[in-house]
Amino acid sequence: MDRRVFLLSSAVAASAQPSQVVGTGMIGVGNRGSGLLRGVLQQSDAKVLALCDIKPDRLDKAATAAAKDNPKTYTEWRAVIERKDIDAVFIATPPHLHSEMAVAALQAGKHVYCEKPIGVTPAQVRAVVEAAKKSNKVFVPGQQLRSVKEYQQAIEKIREGVIGDVIMLKAQRHAQRDLAHDGSSQDWYFDVTKSGGYLIEQSVHNLDLCNWVIGAHPIRACGFGATLMYKNDPPGRTIFDCGIIAYDYPSGVKLSFTQNVFHPRGLPLGGQYVHVFGTKAAVDLMPIPTLYALGDQSQPVPLTEKSNESNQLHIEAFYRSVLTGAKPPADVTIGATAALTAILGHEAMTKQKVVQWSELGVDV
Ligand SMILES: NC(=O)c1ccc[n+]([C@@H]2O[C@H](COP(=O)([O-])OP(=O)(O)OC[C@H]3O[C@@H](n4cnc5c(N)ncnc54)[C@H](O)[C@@H]3O)[C@@H](O)[C@H]2O)c1
Repeated sequence: MDRRVFLLSSAVAASAQPSQVVGTGMIGVGNRGSGLLRGVLQQSDAKVLALCDIKPDRLDKAATAAAKDNPKTYTEWRAVIERKDIDAVFIATPPHLHSEMAVAALQAGKHVYCEKPIGVTPAQVRAVVEAAKKSNKVFVPGQQLRSVKEYQQAIEKIREGVIGDVIMLKAQRHAQRDLAHDGSSQDWYFDVTKSGGYLIEQSVHNLDLCNWVIGAHPIRACGFGATLMYKNDPPGRTIFDCGIIAYDYPSGVKLSFTQNVFHPRGLPLGGQYVHVFGTKAAVDLMPIPTLYALGDQSQPVPLTEKSNESNQLHIEAFYRSVLTGAKPPADVTIGATAALTAILGHEAMTKQKVVQWSELGVDV
């Protein structure tokens, strides 16, 4: 065959080949992990080769859901990362296990999608940061608000100056009730050493959004946390059911954050919100970013339109990074900064004194 024709026909053959498929392992297929699994199964560029969980019922359910990919099931997570044909792992185990699993997976040369928080102590976060920085693989934390188009657009407009300088935020995460005492995560959630408590386990999303808007992490925090409604309920409980924190950011920007699990439905200002105050206007970020000009006559002006669901976009972005090297919407620095902001707040609420970011001892 003429060399030119040969080259041309091999190029055509290459382009006709199916695109690369990323062998994927799922570690932890409980509530969140099974949702992630559904998302991964929708990806044409992924094949689920392994499922791992210590609970047989969850493993069975996940294996049924993933039947089209015929994955092997494991109860020992190290066996998953030892497999050479696994390129990427998703980690959706309880928070205190994330760091050890993520570090081992990165060291084994895997791309990692790790649920938030990436650690519940500064040492756990530091280990992930160091391992991700040494690795040339993709690391994406499950901070999927970073994939929400309306937040991306609103924050771009805020950066362009639509509200002037950002000077203060007021945000909260209030729930109507405590996490179910007989629910999917009751065996770890109420133990502060495993979940980190509500601030670290849940508000890590809201605090990440605040950091993103401000464009920095806090330099110090003070606060008060307590268990006032659910005392020793469930028995042995070590997590707070409420707390208030004040964060101080560079240039003196302030964030006031509250968390509780006893905000009745119908009582105004329930649920989650992030109010961003600027020198020219304010923005209510959730659920649809809305602008209010300064003054007593201001009318709400939508800043963006409602967009797609973020969970799938975040998973898609992970695979895009793995396959093309594109920058992911959230990386290890974002995951670490979010976790450390929550840890800083938790330490302040626990010690009931001002805690400096530098005391956490993690270089992000
Ligand atoms: N990004 C989000 O919006 C979001 C939402 C919910 C939960 N999460 C996070 O996902 C993680 C899991 O939360 P969940 O609600 O799914 O909890 P869950 O308890 O329902 O699931 C955790 C699973 O991990 C398994 N597991 C525990 N130890 C294990 C081990 N050593 N090896 C393998 N599997 C093990 C458990 O058996 C369980 O099935 C948490 O970090 C949570 O913060 C994130």
